[in-house]
Amino acid sequence: MGDDVTHAVVTGGAGFVGSHLVDELLGSGFRVTVVDDFSTGVRRNLDHHRADDRFELHSVDLKQGLPAIEDADVVFHLASRASPGDFRSHGVDIALTNSVGTNRVLDLALEQDATVVLASTSEVYGDPEVHPQPESYVGHVSVRGARSPYDIGKRFGETLGMAYARQFDLDVRTVRIFNTYGPRMRPDDGRVVPTFVSQALSGDPLTVHGDGTQTRSFCYVSDLVTGLVEVAREPSMDGDVVNLGNDEEITILALARRIRELVDRSPEIVHVDGRPDDPTKRRPDLTRARERLDWQPTTPLDEGLRRTIEDLRGRLET
Ligand SMILES: NC(=O)c1ccc[n+]([C@@H]2O[C@H](COP(=O)([O-])OP(=O)(O)OC[C@H]3O[C@@H](n4cnc5c(N)ncnc54)[C@H](O)[C@@H]3O)[C@@H](O)[C@H]2O)c1
Repeated sequence: MGDDVTHAVVTGGAGFVGSHLVDELLGSGFRVTVVDDFSTGVRRNLDHHRADDRFELHSVDLKQGLPAIEDADVVFHLASRASPGDFRSHGVDIALTNSVGTNRVLDLALEQDATVVLASTSEVYGDPEVHPQPESYVGHVSVRGARSPYDIGKRFGETLGMAYARQFDLDVRTVRIFNTYGPRMRPDDGRVVPTFVSQALSGDPLTVHGDGTQTRSFCYVSDLVTGLVEVAREPSMDGDVVNLGNDEEITILALARRIRELVDRSPEIVHVDGRPDDPTKRRPDLTRARERLDWQPTTPLDEGLRRTIEDLRGRLET
């Protein structure tokens, strides 16, 4: 993808990350086509673009095939449920979206000679034995575990992308996204930041799975989106993979306490059963992103949490 690119396709563009990416792309002059089945995405996330004639929206399940799309220069493939709460109840959909759906996206890109930016995940590292995780780490994942529709689905998507790259010389770039948060996350999404924030705003106890010593690192969504666009622009990313996230690590218990302080209420923190196969630690090695993309996260956790709290407060009150 060069600097003259105008048409981006965003699968999953009505979702949390996808809709922020659409904002960024339209804001920087792209034409944008979104493909989304609204399984977890919502129209409200894109309503502000409805009158923009550079914006097009297709309500389609990728597993069923893609609509006719022409002249795509780059496809950002983000469509996939991503909430741990869905891994059991929607496991088949997740596994197939990341295999059959990804197959359809790669075929479209091949037909149009477009660059593909595949949204993979830190989950491909599983419960890591190497810390922090560099892109070269092959991971520690259970093929039959509770998270396998998602993490094996994403692994397969990466494999399929590399097969297209090798066999057909397709320009496929893979991003392993680490926990990202921000406005537009669904309060009932099951991911830890919106869960704690909505519990705290409602004055309910904050439910920490296990003892809360498991760590995560949280990237604010605008930082991630900047990185995704950089990946599409940087020629040396053709055929390569990069971690994007934040490398400041925090325990889940410390996160719960921080959110409680920022919301300025004092609900209890209670411990509930740990999640099966929940990784004990997770932090990206961002060396490659820093060196190759000149990218790094810049939004401090407190600042990002404040913006997320304000967004959820507004939505919970309406
Ligand atoms: N947010 C994170 O922390 C995070 C971390 C790692 C990876 N990711 C990846 O980033 C991408 C976006 O995640 P998100 O957090 O915005 O989740 P999200 O659930 O908000 O967005 C996913 C979008 O994909 C759509 N979708 C799902 N299945 C589809 C299908 N079969 N056909 C068409 N559309 C479909 C949903 O309706 C939704 O709009 C996902 O691929 C996810 O795996 C996100």
